[in-house]
Amino acid sequence: MAAEREHWGSNLGFILAAAGSAVGLGNIWKFPYITGENGGGAFVLVYLLCIAVIGVPVMICEIALGRHTQRNPVGAFKQLNPVSCTMAHFIGLCFMLSGLFLFCFSQWGWGATALVIGALIFRYRWILVGAMGVLAGFVILSFYSVVAGWTLGYVLQAVGGQLTFANVAEAQEHFGVFIRDVRWAIGCHFAFIVICVLIVYHGIKSGIERWSKVLMPVLFLLLLALIIRGITLPGAMAGVRFYLSPDFSRIDAQSILVALGHAFFSLSLGMGAIITYGSYLRRDQNIFTSTLSIAALDTLVALMAGLAMFPAVFARGFAPDTGPGLVFQVLPAVFHQIPLGALWAFLFFLLLLVAAVTSGISLLEVVTAYFVDERRWPRRRAVVVFGAVIFLLGSLCAVSVADWSRIEPLHRFLVAAFGTTEASFFDVMDHMASNWMLPLGGLFISLFVGWVWGTRHAVDEIRHGSHNFADVHLMSLLAGLRDDPSHNSPAHVITLASLWGIFIRFISPVAVLIAFLNTIGWLDF
Ligand code: PHE
Repeated sequence: MAAEREHWGSNLGFILAAAGSAVGLGNIWKFPYITGENGGGAFVLVYLLCIAVIGVPVMICEIALGRHTQRNPVGAFKQLNPVSCTMAHFIGLCFMLSGLFLFCFSQWGWGATALVIGALIFRYRWILVGAMGVLAGFVILSFYSVVAGWTLGYVLQAVGGQLTFANVAEAQEHFGVFIRDVRWAIGCHFAFIVICVLIVYHGIKSGIERWSKVLMPVLFLLLLALIIRGITLPGAMAGVRFYLSPDFSRIDAQSILVALGHAFFSLSLGMGAIITYGSYLRRDQNIFTSTLSIAALDTLVALMAGLAMFPAVFARGFAPDTGPGLVFQVLPAVFHQIPLGALWAFLFFLLLLVAAVTSGISLLEVVTAYFVDERRWPRRRAVVVFGAVIFLLGSLCAVSVADWSRIEPLHRFLVAAFGTTEASFFDVMDHMASNWMLPLGGLFISLFVGWVWGTRHAVDEIRHGSHNFADVHLMSLLAGLRDDPSHNSPAHVITLASLWGIFIRFISPVAVLIAFLNTIGWLDF
């Protein structure tokens, strides 16, 4: 018999660890620049709506799935997989037809992939959603750790006084040389993976929880220090205005979809990280209020990250809409111009590194939990072996950013099969995870909970641990669980209750499906 499953030491520990997974490069590196590109404050409002309407309901599903089954994503779906499922067969059929359709257009790689996935769905049904999550753990961590490695490199360079640039062009050039220098790129990527391995190696309570409790407050303090520094610079208010004043003319279908996709990535949804963290929860902990806290922390950090950056960028007269390069190519030049610049640069990249570590460990934990639960591997062996595998995959990403020609056979294969030409292996992995795996994962998780496992069972799980809160009434009423003695809840509570069910069964699947079809170009807005 396997040893008893480890659990979080406290509810706060769980919230900080899950918020640590959610708060990452997505919040600090990506959110500010996509906000800058999509109409500032107006985009922030749309994003908040996506978090509330889609993100929070789906996160509740993931935590409930994890806690109910006490298993990794594959184990969770295995435990609840129905013997026969019309919906799964229908989805399998859709994949197979898409495969044939793609063959008609000579898309051989994509067509074959869709056919194989369709066949696998017939065989394994919902377990595949969990398997895709574990696979996504490998895929995401392999490119995530490369960017995290650059961050680590910049922390070291800030200490060494190497981030001194007179202008953005110099900073850009430095960044270009830096990421192409394989010693730096691979060395820092390696160091990042070692940090994650060391934390996950020690398990849930004394590894992930302990470090999240230290790192999350550090992250908050660093962010606060940077915001205060930024907004007290002369001319900073223009940045605050740019960031927060809504420009609704910039909002279109496309930016709404960007907001939705980012809400998923940012809350770590759609790949089982939250199922896995939920599986270490005890039944007396409140899922509903925990989810609200995690989503609120994640959103707060994203908003604060923009406030830490734009005021300083404006105060020093730089352009705010430089896209992905903002963090590595513009900020170092900005910092160099303010007093004690090296110190601020150091603190900023340290902040980014801390955020990346707490997300990286959740990705590694998904993979580890699978091998521990399903394959009965000792945790330590799983962590070290898959840390090494991810290091190798990530090295391909790092090298491909520098120069494809170093891994030409892989490049040729991808071009032949999928027609990718320009994109580096790094981009391929990023694209595969963010545009395919996470949206499909989110879609299937809400379909599964809404229609297959059923909101009634989900609610039965959620209401454990919520006895002191109004939400227990709303949840049990929603599911028609009349065995709860106190169900004379106020009307607004009942309304909220039915809303969750509607979101999970109808709104999230439809919204995510539209976003997904748009990203893959089958539905053009
Ligand atoms: N949420 C993390 C971020 O914002 C990324 C992540 C996605 C982590 C999926 C785990 C799982 O950077």
